[in-house]
Amino acid sequence: MTVDLSGFHAVKHALRFRPDLVASVTVTSFAAAAALCDELAPDVREALLARAVEGPVDHPTGVSAVALRPAVDRGVLLSRSAPLLLLDHPRHPGNAGAAVRVAAAVGASGVAVLGDLDPWHPAVLRGSAGLHFALPVLSCGLDEVVGTVVALDASGDPWNGLPDDAVLAVGSERAGLSASVRARADGVVALPMRPGVSSLNLATAASAALYAWRLGVSPPAGSAAGRGGTGHGPPPG
Ligand SMILES: C[S@@+](CC[C@H](N)C(=O)[O-])C[C@H]1O[C@@H](n2cnc3c(N)ncnc32)[C@H](O)[C@@H]1O
Repeated sequence: MTVDLSGFHAVKHALRFRPDLVASVTVTSFAAAAALCDELAPDVREALLARAVEGPVDHPTGVSAVALRPAVDRGVLLSRSAPLLLLDHPRHPGNAGAAVRVAAAVGASGVAVLGDLDPWHPAVLRGSAGLHFALPVLSCGLDEVVGTVVALDASGDPWNGLPDDAVLAVGSERAGLSASVRARADGVVALPMRPGVSSLNLATAASAALYAWRLGVSPPAGSAAGRGGTGHGPPPG
């Protein structure tokens, strides 16, 4: 099965992480594409131009590609050494794409999606800037998810770190966490917000929690959450 990648950044990321899957690249002009590579990503210049043919491209950067979808690695649902992000029935492809992007950036082990939204829908791919090729991105059922589940909710307990092998669950835009994810969760935690703010966007909440893990952010000393914390993020470097 193939997917269409629109724009230089999506093509660049696919070439960086899975050049073997990028079947063809279309550019409006070889010279303009080469100049973009020189300016923004010299590391993919050779791979991009080697696959390029000139033709019409419906993107302002003048670059698009067709890539094969990677084989689904469902092993990430069973065990992992970095958190798995679990999106609980997301509705908006752009939010799911933004969540994939931050999960890739932070070094999460993958992104799993509950519900009807196809995580490989073109609009989700646009939102991730092609970073679907950097980590496993898949649909799953809740019963397939093994391990400690830490769920995010604005009314949860104080942040207490995230174990490296945890599943971080984030609720949907309007409904928040589903009853089944809430029941499955080993803990429900909140990211502190200023009074008056009711919630963060789901990708923003995922980003804050994953970066807290990545940076090894601990609960404030002396806070209830600071006693007996669990996760410490990855080793430095
Ligand atoms: C837009 S919010 C959902 C708002 C929804 N109306 C509700 O009642 O939960 C989307 C998801 O982001 C996460 N989230 C947003 N703000 C959060 C916060 N301050 N602390 C923890 N999680 C948060 C939660 O997982 C939430 O389900």
